[in-house]
Amino acid sequence: MHSTRVVAVLTLVVGLAHCFPWDIVVGGDKQLYFYYNGTLTHTEEIPLATQITSLTYDPVHYRVLFTDVNYPSMTISSFDLSTAKIQVLLTTKTQSYFVRVVYDPVTQLLVWKTWHKIYTFSLNPASSDKAVDGNLLVTIDNDCRDIAVDICGRYIYWITDDEIERARLDGSDREVIVDSTVHFRISLAIDQQTQRLYWIDYITANGGRLSIESANLNGKNRTTLYIVRNASRASSLAVSKDFIYWQNSNEVGTWQLPKNSSEHDARKLYSISSLRDWSYQLVATNYTIQEQIQGIQSCEALQGLMPNNSNPVTVSICQNYCLEGNCSVNAGGQPTCSCKAGHSGERCEVNACHDYCLHNGFCSLNEENKRVCQCTAGYDGERCDISICNEYCVQGNCSVGADGLPKCSCRAGHSGERCEVNACHDYCLHGGVCSLNEENKRVCQCTAGYDGERCDISICNEYCVQGNCSVGADGLPKCSCTTGYSGERCEENACHKHCLNGGVCSLNEEDEPACQCTAGYDGGRCEVSAYKDSSCDAGNSGQGSISACHQFCLNNGVCSLNEASEPVCQCTADYEGERCEVSVNKDLCCPKVTTVTVTLSQGGQSTCASTVV
Ligand SMILES: *[C@@H]1O[C@H](CO)[C@@H](O)[C@H](O)[C@H]1NC(C)=O
Ligand SMILES: *[C@@H]1O[C@H](CO)[C@@H](O)[C@H](O)[C@H]1NC(C)=O
Ligand SMILES: *[C@@H]1O[C@H](CO)[C@@H](O)[C@H](O)[C@H]1NC(C)=O
Ligand SMILES: *[C@@H]1O[C@H](CO)[C@@H](O)[C@H](O)[C@H]1NC(C)=O
Ligand SMILES: *[C@@H]1O[C@H](CO)[C@@H](O)[C@H](O)[C@H]1NC(C)=O
Ligand SMILES: *[C@@H]1O[C@H](CO)[C@@H](O)[C@H](O)[C@H]1NC(C)=O
Ligand SMILES: *[C@@H]1O[C@H](CO)[C@@H](O)[C@H](O)[C@H]1NC(C)=O
Ligand SMILES: *[C@@H]1O[C@H](CO)[C@@H](O)[C@H](O)[C@H]1NC(C)=O
Ligand SMILES: *[C@@H]1O[C@H](CO)[C@@H](O)[C@H](O)[C@H]1NC(C)=O
Repeated sequence: MHSTRVVAVLTLVVGLAHCFPWDIVVGGDKQLYFYYNGTLTHTEEIPLATQITSLTYDPVHYRVLFTDVNYPSMTISSFDLSTAKIQVLLTTKTQSYFVRVVYDPVTQLLVWKTWHKIYTFSLNPASSDKAVDGNLLVTIDNDCRDIAVDICGRYIYWITDDEIERARLDGSDREVIVDSTVHFRISLAIDQQTQRLYWIDYITANGGRLSIESANLNGKNRTTLYIVRNASRASSLAVSKDFIYWQNSNEVGTWQLPKNSSEHDARKLYSISSLRDWSYQLVATNYTIQEQIQGIQSCEALQGLMPNNSNPVTVSICQNYCLEGNCSVNAGGQPTCSCKAGHSGERCEVNACHDYCLHNGFCSLNEENKRVCQCTAGYDGERCDISICNEYCVQGNCSVGADGLPKCSCRAGHSGERCEVNACHDYCLHGGVCSLNEENKRVCQCTAGYDGERCDISICNEYCVQGNCSVGADGLPKCSCTTGYSGERCEENACHKHCLNGGVCSLNEEDEPACQCTAGYDGGRCEVSAYKDSSCDAGNSGQGSISACHQFCLNNGVCSLNEASEPVCQCTADYEGERCEVSVNKDLCCPKVTTVTVTLSQGGQSTCASTVV
């Protein structure tokens, strides 16, 4: 897929190299040095070169054409800026140390000169010219220093020590256009945009004088643009949209002069000190066709060479190649990517963030180019790999709330933010076992000895009245009574019902009950009436006072004293009356009481046993 694409692109490529900017290219030894505004932006090593001796730029195919002298032959090669491909176009024996090459993009014609000859070679594959070693165009008697092609006018110009001449590109109409006695005319350039000719004159007299000269394309209106006195020689003139460039020998470097300037505006851009000889420094400019024909009335020849939008000429091998990075063309002619931080892969197609943050987390790179995830609601962790619900709800289902926080839906019997609270927790006391009934209500099963809804009530609680309580094997409370008490709940003490007739009971030092009797009674339990009834016991009559109840109620009526200490009778069913003296049965004859024996019952009540007479 990848290689297919590259091949497909390569077939289209003749595009503008986006890879490094340049405004001039300087050749020397085995290198092409590309500069932009005086700064080196690219160095291209030409591996097979021996000595680059001249160069020019083809703005249609975006390639630098250069000659390399390797005696006894010479090659003319191209360095394609779009593909970085170096291609030998021609090998010829028609060479010279002072070879210069120019190019006519309209007919794709290479034109080069030796000391005395000018040759052409068609690069157009459709050309019928099959000469392998070039065609001789012009023979020159004087030493030929340089050549230039007038693309619009369709002329070839050349410069010798004496004059500047031109001819049509087929060699016809040859004429001298600048003719004066000078010493060296070193270099020549033609600018379509100004429709002018530029050249360097050098006069050795008076310590040397170098001047940049200009004239119309017909040689008229000659002007001197710039003069350097006490100068040594110069070489290799070139023009661009705004500037004239040349190389100087005594102050080695590339010089730049605005085309429209007056004198003294030249500036030295740089020098390449590593080069063996100043004369190897050759300059060509990035001068686009559009710039060349800007503002000029008509130049059909160049107009037809303007890149069309539909034309693949505008497609670069680098175009759309690097997905996230800058593209450049390497020495092998292949596009090479310099990826943005966070991207990698041959085409920067691998995003470091790819698949890094899980669960739709958003990935970005921090200042140290480390991946950082911004998680969606519900996820956390370095890679959003941890659900915030993870192990959050202790006893229940988890979901993520609108606020992005985990929410628990608790199982029955659990509560709390994380369902961490068991409803049974601490509910049943004293070891009671808690469970939920069918209505999810808590129910306690208590251990022996406890009772109540939460087993909170001890069965011993207030059980033993006077004693210690313990739980028996049967689960019921058992009392261990303190001395003097008895009964199941130790509710009884020795005093219980011990003193009769209202006697007050207390325990003595031996914990034995002792009675303090009410008036009229006596005995250990106050069971003895202090006074004998005379009718019961005549021997004791008249002694002390007698209980008001004494012999008061008749016929087994029970006597008690009311609040006023008056005797009151509670009669049996058969009797009534204040003293139960009236028989309810009217048929009965009221028995006549003759003798009454009084005894005290256990309750202190007196009972009369009467004898009927
Ligand atoms: C060549 O010059 C043109 C016009 O100034 C410019 O747009 C283009 O970027 C230059 N080419 C390079 C590779 O610098
Ligand atoms: C070119 O270089 C000069 C000085 O070296 C600088 O002032 C100028 O801004 C540069 N121009 C561009 C377009 O880089
Ligand atoms: C002569 O050249 C100068 C400067 O290059 C220019 O300003 C002027 O217009 C030219 N005159 C003619 C007649 O070409
Ligand atoms: C000319 O240049 C030489 C060396 O380059 C120097 O010695 C001499 O002084 C210069 N003369 C003038 C007039 O500048
Ligand atoms: C030279 O041309 C540039 C634009 O290319 C312009 O800005 C400048 O003013 C011109 N200078 C002169 C002296 O005409
Ligand atoms: C541009 O398109 C025109 C018309 O389609 C064509 O004649 C011309 O050759 C094209 N130019 C280039 C440089 O391909
Ligand atoms: C890509 O080129 C631009 C402009 O030259 C530069 O600012 C940027 O740092 C380059 N990026 C990389 C990854 O090389
Ligand atoms: C917890 O989720 C399961 C499965 O979805 C469901 O059967 C159960 O009723 C849920 N329990 C609660 C307390 O929401
Ligand atoms: C009741 O318990 C206390 C404390 O354990 C003990 O001192 C006392 O003797 C116990 N009394 C009886 C009657 O067991």
